[in-house]
Amino acid sequence: MTSTATPFPDALARRLNRIQKLITAGDLKDAALKLNVEVKRSPDDPRIYLMGMRLAEASGNPGGALEAAQRAVKVMPDWPVAVTELALLLARQNQFPEAMEHAERAVQLDGSSPDVLTRVIDVAHRAQSFDRAIEWLLRATTILAGNSDVRLLLARDWRATGQPEKALSIYDQLIEAHPTDRVALMGRAQTAIATGNLALALRDCESLMAMHPNDEDAEVRFYLEVARGNTPNRQPQEMVRSLFDASAEYFDRRLITGLKYKLPQEVAKVIAERYPDLKLNVLDLGCGTGLLGACLGRIQGAMVGVELSTKMIDQAFKHGVYDRFHNVDLLEALEATPDSLYDVIAALDVFVYVGELTAAIPDAYRILRPGGHFIFSCEQALEDEADLVLRPTQRFAHKASHVDAMCRAAGFEPVTPEFKALRYENNEPVQGFLVIARKPAA
Ligand SMILES: C[S@@+](CC[C@H](N)C(=O)[O-])C[C@H]1O[C@@H](n2cnc3c(N)ncnc32)[C@H](O)[C@@H]1O
Repeated sequence: MTSTATPFPDALARRLNRIQKLITAGDLKDAALKLNVEVKRSPDDPRIYLMGMRLAEASGNPGGALEAAQRAVKVMPDWPVAVTELALLLARQNQFPEAMEHAERAVQLDGSSPDVLTRVIDVAHRAQSFDRAIEWLLRATTILAGNSDVRLLLARDWRATGQPEKALSIYDQLIEAHPTDRVALMGRAQTAIATGNLALALRDCESLMAMHPNDEDAEVRFYLEVARGNTPNRQPQEMVRSLFDASAEYFDRRLITGLKYKLPQEVAKVIAERYPDLKLNVLDLGCGTGLLGACLGRIQGAMVGVELSTKMIDQAFKHGVYDRFHNVDLLEALEATPDSLYDVIAALDVFVYVGELTAAIPDAYRILRPGGHFIFSCEQALEDEADLVLRPTQRFAHKASHVDAMCRAAGFEPVTPEFKALRYENNEPVQGFLVIARKPAA
């Protein structure tokens, strides 16, 4: 059997639907009782085990969910639905190699099914396996020729893998067919900026503004400024939030394995060397998924995270080392914090989104205790560039001498930026520097 259609008579489908509704409503006990009856009635029907998987997931039992999905595949190994459900579950549980194995098998079973393709593409994205995602998206574009969502995803993946020309050709086709397609116009404007074609970006941003003249969409306004050749002060909060809400689930995997990002380990080591008893208060600005806290472990003081994305906070919370989180903009958090509270303020890979640091640096100085440290990273603008540069990636780069001057003006001891590759992107190092600025002891 290689069809995704349900190969069963449908009285059971109706009863399973009812059980699904119970699960959605949180009535898990009743759902379990009814499902047990069905297992006894039809032990060879894989749909029952897929429902068991959903029930176990809703009950917070990942092991049980995995067992149930594996059972579904065992009773009907060639049913692509069960295989893709298992693949997706494994991906949700961060077991990416196994998830991809099952996704490949599902494509072998029925690679022309839109359902199968949609799910395996989701698995590939979660596994950050862009080559496979692109392969399956290309297949999906031929099967679902008129589907613009698939083509938008393909364009996004081509952009993410450093192939903007291919992305542009898709956006061109989509916009030609639907000149008011907001997502395509936005995608083309961003891609055009990345390739230096500001005229095209400006045209698209102006079309977006003309479509919604009262639009307060901060993202459109941001790109409009960039397309006009200006450097905005910062990325709008909404842009940051939606970017990281969308990537929170696979952020760590992408950053650590794909992008070889090591700053949290390195900075945790610096902190542990300077405060060997770990008696200190730490403010982690833009704490993300809490990698710094995870590397540092429990400290004997307050560990506080500031973060715009609630989904990132959800991930950080799981480490169990942060005492609290403030879901606010870090500039507001700095401004609202009383004097002399923290021994260390960290801001790792976050000023690339904040840009202008004229308020952040003096505020950090003020809220540090005497002898405290402000530790942050910046992407590097060259000395013959402006003090603050917006890169085609839409991340800000700072000039080290300017950052040093701002730190000194705030009262910090002279800093020696440590220049290094902060991470890799499309296999190219991203050059930056780490600053450890010390507030003089009283
Ligand atoms: C690239 S991640 C780095 C996370 C973490 N510092 C690390 O090193 O793993 C940047 C994080 O900063 C957050 N962020 C960006 N701008 C922010 C702002 N203005 N206020 C608070 N959080 C912000 C983002 O939501 C994201 O989670």
